[in-house]
Amino acid sequence: MSTSQFQTIIYEKKNNVAWITLNRPDKLNAQNAQMRAELIQALQDAAKDDNVRVIVITGAGRAFSAGADISEFPVLTPADLVKRAEMIRPYELIRSMPKPVIAAVNGLALGGGCELAMACDIVIASEDAQFGQPEVRVGVIPGGGGTQILPRLVGEKVAKEMIFTGKFISAQEAYRLGMINRVVPKEKLMEEVNNLVNELLKQSPIILAFAKMAINRALETTLSEGMRVEADLFRMCFSTEDQKELSKAFLEKRPPVIKGK
Ligand code: COA
Repeated sequence: MSTSQFQTIIYEKKNNVAWITLNRPDKLNAQNAQMRAELIQALQDAAKDDNVRVIVITGAGRAFSAGADISEFPVLTPADLVKRAEMIRPYELIRSMPKPVIAAVNGLALGGGCELAMACDIVIASEDAQFGQPEVRVGVIPGGGGTQILPRLVGEKVAKEMIFTGKFISAQEAYRLGMINRVVPKEKLMEEVNNLVNELLKQSPIILAFAKMAINRALETTLSEGMRVEADLFRMCFSTEDQKELSKAFLEKRPPVIKGK
């Protein structure tokens, strides 16, 4: 898949990493129907390409994404939303993708932009980034997981205040609340993301996939059911070549040869 087929995102694959850059900077990367569809296509491609082991989502310009494109709102009908590809939510694709997805939040992450960042497995933000769910100000509630994921991350009270008022919070505040992994100076964002990518590429992709599946279950099920899922996936690790190689390499004090099998 080449990047040239997209108009609203840039999609590049290099060195086992898929880079998705939301690319409507003059509209603060507001997500219109086309961007949603292209984002979904890129995520689907990254999911099925065995050479892609890590995905990074970021934004061009001063925003990560200012959310849904409000210019579509005045005439949008429920039927339009049903017909659109956006009903296959990027959230579900990112969560179900058996690979780590990193959000490199380079600026404003509002509404669907905040939800997109929250859907990612690891979020690194530049110090000027801001997060918010301002949907009520334009007559809707969050529709991409905001009412479900935000309370799980920051608790009910903070989530309700953020969603009821629509106020933005700073990257530092988002970090303090546990919404994101860390905040870095703007000029260091990509360096930090690349460091993390390199750390992830050192691991076995199959073992990371099991770890992601197990952690995702923690948010969706009871503790006892989650413990059973973890035990099953733990046992599955022992069926992989990578587990044998990684443990032998440790004992033999040599670097492992990861196969992803
Ligand atoms: N949908 C459509 N267009 C958007 C947009 C959105 N969510 N967010 C920003 N834009 C557009 C603006 O209309 C403007 O376009 P124009 O230059 O053609 O007029 C451009 O992006 C730049 O935004 P602007 O408002 O001029 O920048 P700002 O720095 O003054 O304000 C924000 C930034 C984020 C505070 C403001 O753009 C905003 O509140 N956006 C809406 C955020 C939102 O409610 N998101 C959730 C939607 S459900």
